[in-house]
Formats: sequence, structure tokens, C-alpha cells
Amino acid sequence: MTTLDDLPIRDDLRGRSPYGAPQKAVPVALNVNENTHPIPEAVAHDIVARVAAAILQLNRYPDREFSELRAAFARYLGHGLAADQIWAANGSNEVLQHVLQAFGGPGRTALGFAPTYSMYGLLSTGTGTAWVVGGRDDEFELTPETAVAAVREHDPDIVLLCSPNNPTGTPLSHETITAVVEAARGIVVVDEAYHEFADAGTPSALELLDGRPRLIVSRTMSKAFAFAGARVGYLAADPAVVDALRLVRLPYHLSALTQAAALAALAHSDEMLAMVDDIRGQRERISEELARLGFHPYRSGANFVLFGGVDDPAAVFTGLLERGILIRDVGLPGCLRVTAGTEAETTAFLEAIAGFAPGSASGAANRMDA
Ligand SMILES: Cc1ncc(COP(=O)(O)O)c(C=O)c1O
Repeated sequence: MTTLDDLPIRDDLRGRSPYGAPQKAVPVALNVNENTHPIPEAVAHDIVARVAAAILQLNRYPDREFSELRAAFARYLGHGLAADQIWAANGSNEVLQHVLQAFGGPGRTALGFAPTYSMYGLLSTGTGTAWVVGGRDDEFELTPETAVAAVREHDPDIVLLCSPNNPTGTPLSHETITAVVEAARGIVVVDEAYHEFADAGTPSALELLDGRPRLIVSRTMSKAFAFAGARVGYLAADPAVVDALRLVRLPYHLSALTQAAALAALAHSDEMLAMVDDIRGQRERISEELARLGFHPYRSGANFVLFGGVDDPAAVFTGLLERGILIRDVGLPGCLRVTAGTEAETTAFLEAIAGFAPGSASGAANRMDA
């Protein structure tokens, strides 16, 4: 049987592992930070109608510039943005890939702050960009001093700032972002995949775009918008950055069906985002309850919580899975990550995790069976 090793694969891909969050059919899936609330039925009907209309024209290539969609994203984001400042692709992963293709590549370096979103390293490798990491401060925070020191040390072509950070949930201050933009000579991406879940009044890095042509703010419809299956991500930046991304995208990369579905969803953004407050409430409930149980939840501005104080993360992960609850072992010692789900899903998780609470008698027994 042929194995990867027998193939003339690129040397820098040898021995690498693909992205691989487990995909399992379980009653309670809280592992990949999706919005676990389904799309409202009335909105779904409208999306179907718009996709159906697009199907009648599938003999033609779609609008390569997805002009209507870019205008709709600009309206949604506000901040005085215009359509020529917007880019979109099949998920923000592809948006980030375009950024790495245009501004990274062989001989160039991308910097992130570990632990951070695992795809940054994979996208860097895939585009031949060297991936380097700086550290974080206590509680996974990232101060301007720590971030700037790493920029000075590595002199990167691209800095990937995740705000709030996955997998830790840590919000990022404007002070850190502006200090990084000033210290770096390259592109600075602020990945705001989870921004809509931030506490009310939390400013977006979109506010910082004016006068900073090397700053990019990326967003996704996969999380708050409950549209992960449709694969739509987007960014806002200087129009010149958008021109650079046009050089690397495939022609017609956003299908007519994707454009129609995204436009329909954006036309209903209030209904699509209606569950965000509820999800934020469930996140707070998770943090409070985990702290009460003796775990150590980290500060989160996202729709998930990373918590420490777990004796044996692999055993607790398996113990929960046996009870039909899938969360994420992100490989951080003593930690697990859980997505805030519906109230019922959150209750199921909290009831099950109580059995693994540090020092609890049932926790000890559960740890033994798991
Ligand atoms: C921080 C962050 N950025 C980007 C993404 C990619 O999302 P998508 O490609 O679905 O837009 C994710 C997905 O989990 C993420 O956590």
C-alpha cells in the first residue's frame, strides 16, 4: 500500500498532521465553538428561496468580485466601511490563507502568540511561510510589552492576533493591537472570529483601521451567525490590501450558491444573531459554575470557556464523551475547552463535569472509571 512517505511530497509537509478536531455524532457537541442554535425557520425559507433563484443561473460563473455581498458586509460592519475595503472567502480560514499567500510565502515569517488558533501554523506551513510563536503573560493575557518584544525578536512579515483568542477566550486590548502595528513592519491581522460574543461595549479593531493600511480585521459567519456549514468568512482592510488578495484567489472562488446564501443571511442579521445574548449568558453560567466546582475558568470574550484545574484532561474528555458530551482537549496541560451551547446542552455539560470536580468524592470515583 502506498503511504505518504512514498510520495514526492514537499519536504516541509513530511511528518505534519492535518487539522483534526474530532467530528462525532453525539447528543451534545460542544467542541468546535459552533453556534449550537439552529437557523430560525423563517430565515431558512428565505435563504432557500434565494439559493433556488441562483440555481437557475448556475450555467454562468458567479460574480467574481461578489460586489453585492461586499456591500452587504460593509453595511453590516458599519464603522464607515466601503465595499472596496471588504474581502470574503470560503470561511475565514480561506481569508487567512489568502493573506498568507499574498504577504507570506517562502523566506517570510508569520508570528502568533501561543496558545492560539491551531490553523495559523497549518496555513503558514501550507503557504511555505515560517511560523514562529511568542509567549503570553499570566492567565494567557497579552500585554503590549510582551507582544512588542516578540515582534522585535522575530521581525515577522505577518502578525496574527486572535481577539478574543482561541483556545483561551482571552480578549485583546486596543493598546496591544496598536503597539504591535507600530512595532511591526509587516501586515497585522486581528482575527475577530468571536467578536460578536464580546461583552457589550467591547470595541472592535475595525475602529483602528483608519490610517493603518497594514492592519486587517477578519471576521466569520461561522460562529455568532450560526452559518458554519455555509463557509463564509470576510475581512475589512485598506482597499490596497484587498487588491493584493485578488492576486492570489482562485477565479470565482465564492460560488453563486454561497453568495446567495450569505446575502440572504445578512438580510436577516438581527434574527441570525438573536441567540448571541443567550449564548453569552450560558458562557457566564459555565464560568461561574466551573469556578464554584473548583476548576479555574479563564477570562473569556468568546462563546467558549477554557478551564484549568483538570487532573487528567484525556480521562475527563473520555468520561464526558461516554455520557454523550463532546468537548475539546486542546493539549494544554490540566485544561479543557467547552463551547457555550443552548441552555439544555450547557446544563448537560455542567451536570456531567460536576462528577469530575477537583477534590470531589464522585470526581475521584469518576476519574477511576474513566
Ligand atoms: C480564531 C478562529 N479564527 C478563524 C476560524 C475559522 O473559522 P471559519 O473558517 O469557519 O470562518 C476559527 C474557527 O474555529 C477560529 O477559532
